[in-house]
Amino acid sequence: MKKLLFIFCFAFILINCKNNSEKNVNPKTKTIGLITEKAMVVSARVEASKIGSAILQKGGNAFDAMAATELALAVAYPYAGNIGGGGFMVYRLNSGEIGALDYREKAPLAATKDMYVDKNGNVIPDKSTVGAMAVGVPGTIAGVFASHKRFGILPIEDIIQPVIDLARKGVVVTAKQEARLEYFQPYFNQVNPHGTVLDGSWKENDTIKYPALANTLKALMKNGKDEFYKGETAKILAEFIQSQGGIITEEDLSRYEAKWRKPITFEYNGLKIISMSPPSSGGICLAQIMTMIEPYKVSEFEHNSLEYIQVITEAERRAYADRSYYLGDPDFVNIPVESLISQAYVTDRMQDFSFENATPSNKVSHGKVDIIESNETTHYSIVDQFGNAIAVTTTLNSGFGSKLYCPELGFFLNNEMDDFSSKPGVPNVYGLIGAQANSILPEKRMLSSMTPTIVEKDGELLMSVGTPGGSTIITSVLQTILNVHEHNMSMQEAVNAARFHHQWLPDEIRMEPGRFSKELIRQLETKGYIINEERSPVIGIVDGILVTDDGKLEGGADWRGDDTAIGF
Ligand code: DON
Repeated sequence: MKKLLFIFCFAFILINCKNNSEKNVNPKTKTIGLITEKAMVVSARVEASKIGSAILQKGGNAFDAMAATELALAVAYPYAGNIGGGGFMVYRLNSGEIGALDYREKAPLAATKDMYVDKNGNVIPDKSTVGAMAVGVPGTIAGVFASHKRFGILPIEDIIQPVIDLARKGVVVTAKQEARLEYFQPYFNQVNPHGTVLDGSWKENDTIKYPALANTLKALMKNGKDEFYKGETAKILAEFIQSQGGIITEEDLSRYEAKWRKPITFEYNGLKIISMSPPSSGGICLAQIMTMIEPYKVSEFEHNSLEYIQVITEAERRAYADRSYYLGDPDFVNIPVESLISQAYVTDRMQDFSFENATPSNKVSHGKVDIIESNETTHYSIVDQFGNAIAVTTTLNSGFGSKLYCPELGFFLNNEMDDFSSKPGVPNVYGLIGAQANSILPEKRMLSSMTPTIVEKDGELLMSVGTPGGSTIITSVLQTILNVHEHNMSMQEAVNAARFHHQWLPDEIRMEPGRFSKELIRQLETKGYIINEERSPVIGIVDGILVTDDGKLEGGADWRGDDTAIGF
């Protein structure tokens, strides 16, 4: 089934590619995204960006717009937008104060380390990826309400009502969505004998209505967060999951809390980067990679040239090797964060790098750090008219998560349990290898790659950026920041540009097909790099907002999806 899920991701990506081919994106064309004066929302669907932007226009702030956009994506983009999943938010207030919110799913109380392996110690196909056993305790509603409670200024009714209206009125099917829905029908049928709201032969421009989801949202609007975690919705959800063979109980739901975290911060060539801390690996890996490449002055290399790809690939290889060994839920494992991102340690990791030859991944292991004893996703960026900025990445994990749909409540449930390491050394759906630090324990959060990131320059907001893409999230965010800062691209150009990716294992550079020259690929192969242009026809679907030199906002909405920037 890992294979099957890989095919899901692959198929989605192919669908995206097919539908974008006519756009003929040329990375050399000077392109500017939407420019606005004051505020902007960039998200995966026009409906969600519109609702978020309207909340801002009404006087709401970025956190009000977060709640509206997050919930609107659950309606308009059920492929990844969710209330049955989880996510992360990084914020920077106009005062310069920064923080992060973790509303990642967690393992149910009845979860065990070996729940996905059989008596012989082999991983049971499908179990962590499809159906009720794959579901982690959802965090999104806790995240939305925690963010709104702390920073929101508009009443929650003003925020949720437009989303309810959207769900009742329905959402128009895009060309990309048509292809995706057709592709997923057999998998919906396989998991949902009770049917889903998406069953049927949907065509572009059809309208899909979401009445059950509208009712759930109405109950949430009336009763708040407790409706989802302790109320009637919790009861229905726990009973439904158990009726489908899952183990999530009402107690699991009642114990769920979103957590405020301290983001990872580091300096890179005049920038301050603020990114997500564990249980996401995003911030630490990004810090390691950027610190490793900083001495090489990458702006002196041509964008996506041989040397540029070599330096970045070798840094990525080393960071992902550390990811797999050291990282997990910080409430359960002791992560030596300061050591892992320290200049001395990171510089040492690149000592054996040479431009002559690739370093084979089997010669790279995790670095040595003393541990002191104590112990298919979507991204949106929002900058409000007050100067607050947020970066939010939210997910069901795979497209439509576990494919399990709760008909009474009207939403899909995640398959985030697959982000744990089911068995040390056995890759998950993204080919990522995990170790003890990311093993399953009751109430533990699974390691993520989500990398919602905010960038400051000279003490001022410069950018909010992020992307879906599983393991490729970190490297897509990296390249987008470098494109702007080191290669003087506009936000939209930075998003459009061709991307590549290395994650230690498998030992290959994934490249978006047809976007890197044959000669460059030959040169890389000569140096010992294995190139794979098939695995990821698109790498990431990046959305970002850049503060331009004249203080305006430029949106970068990725052509690889239906992403749209809206603002004023
Ligand atoms: O948290 C993670 O790293 C994954 N569950 C993200 C999944 C994802 O980006 C799917 N998109 N292709």
